[in-house]
Amino acid sequence: MPASPSSSDPEAEMARLAAEIEHHNQLYYNDAEPEITDAEYDVLFRQLEKLEADYPLFANPNSPTRRVGAAPIEGFEQIRHPLPMLSIDDLFEISEDERDAVEAKTGERPPKEKEVLDFYKRLQKGLGTDRVPVTIEPKIDGVAVSLVYRQGQLDYAATRGDGTTGDVITSNVRTIKTIPMVFPDGVSAPDVIEIRGEIFMPNEAFAKMNEERDEAGLPTFANPRNSTAGTLKLLDPREVAKRPLDFIAHGVGLVEGGQINTVTEFHALLDQLGIRKNEPLWLAESAEEVLTAVRELDIARHQLAYGTDGAVIKVINRDDQTALGATSRAPRWAAAFKYPPEQKETLLQDITVQVGRTGKLTPVAELEPVLVSGTTVRRATLHNESFINEREIAIGDTVLIQKAGEIIPEVIRVVAKAENHPGTPFSLETYLNGACPVCAGPIERRETITGPKADPRTVVTHFCVNFECPAQTSSRMRQFVSRKALDIEGIGTIVAEKLVERGLVKTPLDLFSIPEATLADLNLGTDESPRMLGEKNAAKIVQTRERAAREMPLARWTFAMGIPQVGESASRELSRLHRNFGEIAQSDILAELRTLKTGDRKEANPLLAPYEIASEVGPAAAASALDFFQSEAGHHVLLRLAELGIDPQSDNYAPKPAEAAADGSSPLAGKTFVITGTLSAPRDDIAARILAAGGKVTGSVSKNTSYLLAGEGGGSKLDKAEKLGVTVIGEEDLDRMLGE
Ligand code: IVH
Repeated sequence: MPASPSSSDPEAEMARLAAEIEHHNQLYYNDAEPEITDAEYDVLFRQLEKLEADYPLFANPNSPTRRVGAAPIEGFEQIRHPLPMLSIDDLFEISEDERDAVEAKTGERPPKEKEVLDFYKRLQKGLGTDRVPVTIEPKIDGVAVSLVYRQGQLDYAATRGDGTTGDVITSNVRTIKTIPMVFPDGVSAPDVIEIRGEIFMPNEAFAKMNEERDEAGLPTFANPRNSTAGTLKLLDPREVAKRPLDFIAHGVGLVEGGQINTVTEFHALLDQLGIRKNEPLWLAESAEEVLTAVRELDIARHQLAYGTDGAVIKVINRDDQTALGATSRAPRWAAAFKYPPEQKETLLQDITVQVGRTGKLTPVAELEPVLVSGTTVRRATLHNESFINEREIAIGDTVLIQKAGEIIPEVIRVVAKAENHPGTPFSLETYLNGACPVCAGPIERRETITGPKADPRTVVTHFCVNFECPAQTSSRMRQFVSRKALDIEGIGTIVAEKLVERGLVKTPLDLFSIPEATLADLNLGTDESPRMLGEKNAAKIVQTRERAAREMPLARWTFAMGIPQVGESASRELSRLHRNFGEIAQSDILAELRTLKTGDRKEANPLLAPYEIASEVGPAAAASALDFFQSEAGHHVLLRLAELGIDPQSDNYAPKPAEAAADGSSPLAGKTFVITGTLSAPRDDIAARILAAGGKVTGSVSKNTSYLLAGEGGGSKLDKAEKLGVTVIGEEDLDRMLGE
């Protein structure tokens, strides 16, 4: 029975709640000035969720509840842009040689930004006037997106694509809290307005996310731009919702039922809509003023929280824009001056070696501090032994450094060798006297082959293989207790480090046997000025560790182990294929999976065909999981768990079809399903239920398909099923077949 809503009109009540929540989203995300507490916000949010569950017919796809991410989709639809999304012409710095040449010819030495002056001359000539008002604004290093609003509602969001057609990424864009899905009440905006801008990841949030990914054993991204582009291509909006994306508007496309004539009008509208505009912005009316703005922006842009790589110069006046026109590629009324990445020379004073969570040893350049793109750089990664040898880098060299994607410093090359340059190849093993710099334990050398098949490259990396190395233990400990793992409260970085430092924890599982009183007495300070953890915090740790021991399912425990390559999703998949750690350790499925080559489709292997959906466990993850449980460290973990009486169980186990058939409970035996559209649960989970009941799941509809299970918005597959006379069923039908 639906609860009676506080108003007799649930639809109106839902709209009211949605508007109120969006108002608070605005205050929180855009203005950083919340007016209500998180708890009060949660109450509103839950009221709306409840109403949407009770009255699904009235649920609006632009509801703030959708910001957490809707169900995964099969692929992106394409849309033709109402007006082409053009590219922009780039202007570059000219070389010293060119400057010399021009000076020799004209007697006047041009600035490095000569192409900017040439561009402005073209504008003057094209319009037949000296004073051409233009704006100068940052070129944001993100991914272009078009947001189309109809009657104040987000209609769709699309990527630039080839400029003519782009991918519809609305469900991913809905997760970006700074993009309104509905315009606030009382704002008079055009009936239809296309707002164009840039989706990006702020530098700090990007760095934090990369750190977390690294800790979780997931691949890291090279820079915020790649990471943004990769995120927007994800088919699961719930994943997108976890990534720190943001948006800034920089232009208008289609406008109907209204007018926007100037930058000022556009910015005023953006302010009213609560959409972030591109700032800082300069106005200029002469070539000199443009040059000054371009140079000022180069200084100001380093204070921005996101990456920028140029200055966009745009003619202000709409009529002037029309008069100047465009080529098929780019408008003639705009151009982007690209700032060269700032590079600096500095002294490589020392090479230190860091130990990561997985034991990976990373050589780090300790540099004479130098200011690059607005921040002081003291250290830069040297990646691995191969990187050092390919570039013949040695202590005492003068090196050229630059910030990749404007944030991560890297060594580009040696500009002057040290006087006593060693010359011979650098060996990390010799450098460290064969021992881990933190625990003095043994080091293992690993070779991996990367690069294109035609031109393979061997990369040499090193690992500390002492599972109890303190450097590894404290960061593994942080993952162990993290929210996505065992969610044990009260253990931050400092507590984790101190537990290891004081010898209380050699492996994360030791956490379970520390007496409460010992925890309370843990000194987080120094011997001189002690600071105890205290009874309250100790009690919280004990309480939550007991909950983890009793209740946390296998997937969480697997993720908590911090096995290289086994992140959150791989952990869930492992727990779908196994009941407990014992089964994972002895797994035939994993033994098969590890033999596959990356990218192999699993239907190539009959044993694995039913597990086509278990796509998250690639050969690398399978091998890593098996190796872990069959290693001494893994045996130790299993033994300790047994001693502690902890035996985590899978909460999403889908037994092999053969097993299901054998116990006579296979209602779907012999039936083949295809799944399409949006359903109440992730498609993989539904597929797993079908498999568990002895059915099969395939990707495309054929005459051999028994049923097409169609959720909301199933497209081409529905047509095909109809054509072939395949029975189309809904989720309730499936539940009935499964006797649920
Ligand atoms: S204006 C026709 N302004 O650069 C000119 N573009 O445009 C329309 N970009 O991928 C673009 N920052 O998304 C403009 N402040 C800015 C920009 C900007 C970044 C991107 C844009 C597109 C590329 C070319």
